[in-house]
Amino acid sequence: MSIHIAAKPGEIADKILLPGDPLRAKFIAENFLEDAVCFNEVRNMLGYTGTYKGERISVMGTGMGMPSISIYARELIVDYGVKKLIRVGTAGSIDPDVHVRELVLAQAAATNSNIIRNDFPEYDFPQIADFTLLDKAYHIAKDLGLTTHVGSVLSSDVFYSNMPERNMRLGELGVKAIEMEAAALYYLAAQHGVQALGIMTISDSLVHPEEDTTAEERQNTFTDMMKVGLETLIS
Ligand code: HPA
Repeated sequence: MSIHIAAKPGEIADKILLPGDPLRAKFIAENFLEDAVCFNEVRNMLGYTGTYKGERISVMGTGMGMPSISIYARELIVDYGVKKLIRVGTAGSIDPDVHVRELVLAQAAATNSNIIRNDFPEYDFPQIADFTLLDKAYHIAKDLGLTTHVGSVLSSDVFYSNMPERNMRLGELGVKAIEMEAAALYYLAAQHGVQALGIMTISDSLVHPEEDTTAEERQNTFTDMMKVGLETLIS
C-alpha cells in the first residue's frame, strides 16, 4: 500500500475516474461498474475497481482542494501506475453564458495556489488538459446532447472568497468557472507524463445566483458527466 491508499499492487486499474466526494465514487461503482471491489477505505476515501463495458476501470474520491487531490493523484500515478485520470466534479460559473447543469471541460486551469509557484517562482507554468482526452470527451458529450463548454477554469484554494470581484474579473477575461482541483491534477500529470482531464458540472452560478436546481436535476446531470468520463476513459 501507499501512505494513504490501502490497495495491493494490481488492484487499481490504469484508468480512473476521480470525483471529489467518496460517496459519489461509491455511487459510480454501484451504478456503472460491474463486479466492483472496494480497494480503499483509509480516511473513508473510498476507491473501487470494476469493469465498464468490459474494460477495467477504477473510481476513487479525492477530497476537496488541491492538497487533497495532489496526495491521492500522486500515489495513484507513482505507486499504482495509473495513466489516465479524469476528475468529475462541480464548479461555480463566472461566465454569464455558462449555466447550472451545463458541462465545462477544463482545457486549462489558472490557479491562485502556490503548488506550482513553489517549483517555478519566476514562471507561470501552463496547466493544461491532455488534448486526446479533451477531444474525446467533447465529442462524447456532444453526441449525448449535453450543453458543453470548453475553456479555462480557475482552481482556487478558497471556496469562501473575500475577493469575489477578482474572480468575477477572471470571468470577464474568459475564464468559465471556479473549482478547486484541476490545476494540481494537470501539474502532476505533466510531472509524470500521464493523461489528465477535468470535467465539471456547473452546480452554482456566481453571475446568476438565482439559478437553482432540484436534487433530481443535479443527480441527472452528475450522471451524464459520469457517463462522459467513463466513455472517454474506454474510447
Ligand atoms: N467555488 C469553488 N469551487 C466550487 C464552486 C465555487 O463557487 N462551486 C462548486 N465548486
